[in-house]
Amino acid sequence: MCGIVGYCGDKLASEVLLSGLKRLEYRGYDSSGISVNSGNKLSIIKKTGKIKNLRDAVPENLPGHFGIGHTRWATHGGVTDINAHPHSDSSEKIAVVHNGIIENYTGLKEKLLREGYVFKSETDSEVLAHLISKFYEGDLESAVKSALSLVKGTYGIIVMHADKDNELIGARNGSPLVLGIGDDEMFLASDVSAILAYTKQVVYFEDGEVVKVTSKGFTTSDLKNNRVSKDMENISWELEEMEKGKFSTYMEKEIHEQVESIPRAMKGRINEDLATAVLGGLNMTGRELLDVERVKIIAAGTSYYAGQVASYIIESLARIPSSAELASEFRYRNPVVEKNTLYFAISQSGETIDTLFALREIKRKGGRVLGICNVVGSTIPRESDGGVYIHSGPEISVASTKAFTSQITALYLFAIHMARMRDMSQSSGAAFLKDLNIIPEAITDILNRKAELQKIAEKYAHYPNFLFLGRGINCPVAMEGALKLKEVSYIHAEGYSAAEIKHGPIALINEKTPSMFLVPDDHMREKIVSNMKEVKARNGKVLAIAVKGDKEVEDIADEVFYVSKTHENLYPYLMVVPLQLFSYFCAMELHRDVDQPRNLAKSVTVE
Ligand code: M6R
Repeated sequence: MCGIVGYCGDKLASEVLLSGLKRLEYRGYDSSGISVNSGNKLSIIKKTGKIKNLRDAVPENLPGHFGIGHTRWATHGGVTDINAHPHSDSSEKIAVVHNGIIENYTGLKEKLLREGYVFKSETDSEVLAHLISKFYEGDLESAVKSALSLVKGTYGIIVMHADKDNELIGARNGSPLVLGIGDDEMFLASDVSAILAYTKQVVYFEDGEVVKVTSKGFTTSDLKNNRVSKDMENISWELEEMEKGKFSTYMEKEIHEQVESIPRAMKGRINEDLATAVLGGLNMTGRELLDVERVKIIAAGTSYYAGQVASYIIESLARIPSSAELASEFRYRNPVVEKNTLYFAISQSGETIDTLFALREIKRKGGRVLGICNVVGSTIPRESDGGVYIHSGPEISVASTKAFTSQITALYLFAIHMARMRDMSQSSGAAFLKDLNIIPEAITDILNRKAELQKIAEKYAHYPNFLFLGRGINCPVAMEGALKLKEVSYIHAEGYSAAEIKHGPIALINEKTPSMFLVPDDHMREKIVSNMKEVKARNGKVLAIAVKGDKEVEDIADEVFYVSKTHENLYPYLMVVPLQLFSYFCAMELHRDVDQPRNLAKSVTVE
C-alpha cells in the first residue's frame, strides 16, 4: 500500500526521495509525489502513474536538502495528481505524507471548512495538513501532536515545514515507521527497503510515538510529551537481495529462490540427535507447550493458506486440534480466546492490518500469540509473545511465493517439535526430517523442467476460467494456486476441495473451464482420480500435477506435470511450486505486470 519516505542531510533530497520511492514501488501504488524545501518555500511535485512520471516532472538538481515523499494507493478520492501526496496547508508551508486512514476525517473536514480552511483534494489525509497548520505557532512537533490528538484512525506520517530547516516530524499509529541513521543524515520510511541503500542502522517506532528528526539526531516522545528511549537495530538484508539479478521479474526470482529459502527457514533449528526441531523464539517452556490443547492460526491471503496447510500437519503429526482462520473475520466476531489455545499470526510483511488487529484482540483477551513473519522488526513480530522468523529475504513481488513455502516450513518444524514431545517416535521424527531435508532437491527438479509448465501455460492462458482442485492437505494448496493465477494473470479461478465440486462447482464444467487437479500418491489419490473422471465425462479439460510414475493420471488428463515422490505430508511443497510457475507463465503469456498486478498492494495496511 502507500509508502512514505523522508530525508534530511547533505544530499539532494529529491534524489534520495525518488530512489526511496522507487524501492517502495513493490508495495503497490497509483501515484506519487515529493516535497522538498527550496529556501523558505516548499517545492511540491505530484504525479499519477509510475515513479518515472514523477522523476520526469522533478527538475534536475532541484535544490533542497530535506524533504518527504509518498507512493499512494488510492482509498479516499480518485487517482489524480491533486489527490496524490504530499498534501499542504493553505500557506503551502506545511507538507504531510500519510499512510493509513483518518476515520473521523469527515467531521474534522466539516469543522475546518466552517473555520475557513480551503481544501484542494478529496483525501482524508489533507485534514492533517490543515489541522497542523491550525495549531502551528512556531513549534512543528507540538502542532503535530495537537493535531493527532484529534484524529481517529491509522497513520504513519512525516511532516515538514518550510521555515523549519532540517527538521522532520514522524508519527505512527497502526502504520509502520522506521528511522534510518546515517552519518550526519537521517531517513524516515514506511519500510527499510526505501533506505537500505544508505544505512543499515535503524530504529523502529511503536504506535503513539512521535519522532523529531534533524540530520544530526532524533528525539522520541509520546503524544503526552513523555520522552521515550529507543534502541538501535541492524538490518540483516543485503541490498543485492532486493535486485532482480539474472531474472526478468521478482516473481520468477522468488520462485527460484525457494531452493535456498526453505533450508534457511530450517537453519540452526534441527537437532538431528534427538530427531526434533528447536525453536527458541517460541519463548515457551516444555511444560507450557505440553499444556497446549488447541492451535489456532490467524492470517490473510497466501499466509492464510499456509496456515491451513500447517493446521493439517499440526493435527496429523502432533495430534493437537488445529485450524486456520481469516484474520479479517476473526477480529470482528468477538472471538472466544481459550486458556490453553496457542495462537499463531502468520504474515510475510508483519504489517497486514487485519492480522495485526486480530493479534491485538487475542492479546487483549489474555491469549498468547506467536508470530510467523519474514520482515524482521515489523509490527506483528514485535507485538507477538514470541515466534519464528522465516528468513526468506525480501519478497518484492506482490504475489507471495517463497514466503508460503517458508511459512509452512516454520510450522512444520513447530509440528515436529510438538509431536516429538508427545507421541512421535525418534525414528518417525528422523524419517520425516530426512524427507523434509530433500524437498529443495525435488524443487530444483521442478525448476529444471519449468519449460514443460511454460508450454502448458501458453496453451491454456487464454481460457477465461479455471478450477483448482485438491484434497486434504493439498486442498489449501489448490486455493493458493487459484489465488496466484487470479492475482497475476487476472484469469478467474476458484480453488476447491475436489470432493466439493459435486455440491455446486461442477455446474461450471464445460470445454472452456479447465480444472487443475493436485494428485499426490497419498490416501486420497483414488478419490481424486474419480473426480478427474467426473470432470472428463463432462467435456472438461483436465490438467494435473501428479507423482512420477502415475501413468493412470496421464491416461485421463489432457496435460500432466510430474513431481518427485515424497512423504504424504510434504506434497504441499511439490504441488505449490508448479502452480506458482503455471500462474507466472500464464501472466507472462498475457503480458501482465507480473510483479505489480493491478489494484494490488504488497502490504495491506488498511482494512
Ligand atoms: O504480508 P502478509 O503475509 O500478511 O500478506 C497477506 C496477504 O495480503 C498476501 O498473502 C496476499 O494475499 C498476496 N498478494 C498473495 O500473493
